[in-house]
Amino acid sequence: MTTQLDELFERNRRWAEATERRSPGFFTQLLAQQAPQYLWIGCADSRVPANELVDLLPGELFVHRNVANVVVHSDLNCLSVMQFATDLLKVKHIIVVGHSRCGGVVAALNDTRVGLADNWIRHVQDVRNRHQPWLDSLPAAEQIDALGELNVIEQARNVCQTTVVQDAWARGQELVVHGWFYGLHNGLLRDLKMTVSEPAEMAPAFDAALASLQARHESKTESVLGSLEAPESPAAALAGRRPSP
Ligand code: CO
Repeated sequence: MTTQLDELFERNRRWAEATERRSPGFFTQLLAQQAPQYLWIGCADSRVPANELVDLLPGELFVHRNVANVVVHSDLNCLSVMQFATDLLKVKHIIVVGHSRCGGVVAALNDTRVGLADNWIRHVQDVRNRHQPWLDSLPAAEQIDALGELNVIEQARNVCQTTVVQDAWARGQELVVHGWFYGLHNGLLRDLKMTVSEPAEMAPAFDAALASLQARHESKTESVLGSLEAPESPAAALAGRRPSP
C-alpha cells in the first residue's frame, strides 16, 4: 500500500502552475480577498464537485458539504458556515443542492443500516415520513430521486428558518435561498424553484416547489405505466425500450 501520495502532490504542482500561467497573479489576488457570491450546501458525494459543475474558480463559491445535504437546526458546523458566509462574506445566495441516486437518500428510503451515519440519515427519513403516502404512490425506482428532491426543498426551508437567514432578512440584507438538484447521469442542474428572498415567500415557494416536483414525478410515472400498457410499437418493445416494472 502506498503511504506517500506523491501523485497528488505532483498533480497539485501542475495545477498551481497551469492556473498561474492562465491568469498570472491568480493566487496573490485570492490572498488579498475572498468575495464569493454563493454558498453551496451540497452532498459529500465525490461525483458532485461543487466548483467544477458550475464552472467557478476558487474564491467564487463558499462550500459546505455533508452526507445527503442536510441542514439541521442544531448542526453548529453547517450553521457556522452559513453565519460566516452571510454575515462576513455577505454572500447573496445560499443554494442547497441535492443529486440523483444519492446513497444517503437510498439508505434513508430503504431503512438500510450503514453505521453511525444512520443517525445523520435519520433527518432524511423524517422527510420521507412526512411525504410517505405520496412516495408510496410512485414506483420504487422513482422514489429515490423523488425523495432526493423533497429533501432539497425541506432542507432549503430549514435554511430559511435559521436565525442566520432570518436575522439577515430582518436587517434588510439581500439574500436568496435556492433548492437545486443535480443529475449524475447528465451533469445538469435543475432548479426546483424553492426560491426565497424574504420570510413571506417561504411557505408559498415551498408549496409551489412541492406541487411542481410531485406533478413531474407523477407524469413520469404515468408515462412509464402508459408505455408498459401500450408500447409505441412491437419493434420498440423488442428493442428493449420498454421499461421494466
Ligand atoms: Co449524495
